[in-house]
Amino acid sequence: MSTAVRFHDQHADETGPSFRDDVIAGLARFPKALSPKYFYDERGSLLFESICHQPEYYLTRTEEGILAEAAEEIAALVGPESLLVELGSGASHKVRLLLEAMRPSRYLGVDISRDFLLRSTRRLAADYPWLEVHAAWADFSERLRLPPGVEGRRVVAFFPGSSIGNFSPAEAEAFLARLRRALPPASGVLIGVDLIKDHDILEAAYNDAAGVTAAFNLNLLERMRRELGASVEVDGFRHLSFFNEAASRIEMHLVSECRQTLVVDQHRFAFAPGEALHTENSCKYSREGFQALARRAGYRPDAVWSDAEGLFSVHYLSND
Ligand code: AVI
Repeated sequence: MSTAVRFHDQHADETGPSFRDDVIAGLARFPKALSPKYFYDERGSLLFESICHQPEYYLTRTEEGILAEAAEEIAALVGPESLLVELGSGASHKVRLLLEAMRPSRYLGVDISRDFLLRSTRRLAADYPWLEVHAAWADFSERLRLPPGVEGRRVVAFFPGSSIGNFSPAEAEAFLARLRRALPPASGVLIGVDLIKDHDILEAAYNDAAGVTAAFNLNLLERMRRELGASVEVDGFRHLSFFNEAASRIEMHLVSECRQTLVVDQHRFAFAPGEALHTENSCKYSREGFQALARRAGYRPDAVWSDAEGLFSVHYLSND
């Protein structure tokens, strides 16, 4: 790797369950379910990038528009010389909107997908020679560790894309409370949160006409085949997503088209026709609903920005 990026392998010492353990446990449950974090192998990360460019997926471009407009205001709130930590850094496009305005002295990208993380942080290091760039390969949903040398610095954790919505509200609150404890005093969290809106707009965003979201969902089965040697007929499943109004969330499922058996190692998992594997929730909030959740996690909601149509929100939460 380029010497310009300081790489921290925090993945190697994570002792949580593996993809294999979670697949076996998730398929043994009723209803069958698996964490959406397993979408993001190399192919899944590329498919997610492509989702972000689909016309129906308004989230990415709307959040980028909000950040572009609010960048100076955000910079004024945060102050210079901070450490900017991007959680789930992926392709790191959005953070570029902040870097020029904020002029942090350090950037740390944290991501579960190693190659993606390395590519994107190397590009940042090349494009912003004044910035000290760090990359931590880690599952930040389990634990967040900051690199040494941050003492006395204001840290801003940037969690874009409404990834917080992939936790349940209770998990989101616990995650934000854990994050607050990991940050030094006088730090903040800049977080993108998708808003409750017309159901047709929401459902279209997770059922794009080009079929990229369907491919992203089905890639989970292909990943089981590639990495676990699972025996599974991917064509025997279809992508399903819909808005669950009572829970205020988009749900994604993989639905079995027929009676079939998925085999991992010596474990056999029977699917009845129409039976689903629940692969993702994407919770949607009102501005006030999310601010109340942030307060319960110990933050003070300092600012919130939105687009003119009220599709998406970006919140600044402080921990002092
Ligand atoms: C990463 N996350 C916020 C996306 C979302 O909208 O929940 C993942 C995604 N799933 C389907 N399309 C996009």
